[in-house]
Amino acid sequence: MTQARHFLQFSDLSREALTHVFERAAILKRRRDAGELYRPLVGKVMTMIFEKNSTRTRVSFEAGMSQLGGHAMFLDGKSSQIGRGEPVEDTARVLSRMSDIIMIRTFEQATVETLAANSRVPVINGLTNEYHPCQILADVFTYLEQRGSIAGKTVAWIGDGNNMARTWLQAAKVLGFKLKVATPKGYELTVLDGVDYSDCYEAYTDPKLAAKDADLVTTDVFTSMGFEAEAEARRQAFDGFMVDAALMTAARPDALFMHCLPAHRGEEVAAEVIDGPQSVVWDEAENRMHVQKALIEYLLLGQVHD
Ligand code: CP
Ligand code: NVA
Repeated sequence: MTQARHFLQFSDLSREALTHVFERAAILKRRRDAGELYRPLVGKVMTMIFEKNSTRTRVSFEAGMSQLGGHAMFLDGKSSQIGRGEPVEDTARVLSRMSDIIMIRTFEQATVETLAANSRVPVINGLTNEYHPCQILADVFTYLEQRGSIAGKTVAWIGDGNNMARTWLQAAKVLGFKLKVATPKGYELTVLDGVDYSDCYEAYTDPKLAAKDADLVTTDVFTSMGFEAEAEARRQAFDGFMVDAALMTAARPDALFMHCLPAHRGEEVAAEVIDGPQSVVWDEAENRMHVQKALIEYLLLGQVHD
C-alpha cells in the first residue's frame, strides 16, 4: 500500500509544513475573496464520516472541496454500515478505493489511527475525544492574520482540559509559544503522546493566573460531545471559569478572544466577551474553510507554489 500523508494530530505537521499551509491558506483566502476560481481537484472526492454532530466542520470541508473543484460526500454512523458494526479497517479499505481523501469525526483517536493505517489515501481528523487539529490550524491562522507570528506569545486556555486544550498544547510545542491552562480540579489536561511539554506549558486552577498577560484567551464548552451524562456535574465544577470582561482585564490590553463554537453565552463565555471587540470568533470559524483547503491541497498535491 502506498504511504499517504495523514493529519491525525496537530504534531503530524512540522513547523515548516505548517508555515507552508498557513501561507497557502492566506493565498487561497485572497483568491476566494477576489472571486478567482482555483480548481486543482477536479474529479477528486472526499468522503466524510461523522459519528458526532457538526455544523462548521461539515460545511467547511464540503464548501472547501467544492471550491477546489472536487466533491465531498457525507456519511454518518446511523445511515451507513459504520453504525452497524462494520470494522473500521474494512471501511478504510473500501472508502480509500473510491475516494481520494477521507475526513473523520468520531469518538476514539484509536479509530482514526486504525482508519489511516488501512487507508491508501490521506486521512484527516475532524475531531476525536482526544484532539481537534483542524480547529487549532484555523485558530493559529486567525492569530497570524490578526497579530503576526504566534512564536513567543502566551495563550491562555480557560475551562476543560479537553480535545481542544490538548491540541493547543501540541501547537505550542511545534510553533514555540507558551500555553497556560486553567481547569477545575479533576478536569486537568492529560498528555497522551508521551511528549515532555514542560518548556511550553503551565497548569493553574485560578483562571486569573492563567489569563495574566496572555496574548490570546480561549475557551470551549464545559461538556464536550460524548460526555453529556456529566453535564450537570460539570456545570457545578466549572463555576467561576466563565471568560467574562473582568477575566479579560488580566490579559494584555490587545489580547484576542477565541472560541471554536458552538458557544454557550453565560456558561463558558459572557456575551460581552464573545460579542465584544476582542473576539475574533467569526473569522476563526470562516478560517476553518481556508486553512482546510490549504491542508487538503498539501496532503494531495504536496507543496504547491502557484
Ligand atoms: N468548531 C467545530 O468543530 O464546530 P462543529 O462542531 O460545528 O463542526
Ligand atoms: N470540545 C468540543 C469541541 C466542539 C467543536 C467537543 O468535543 O464537543
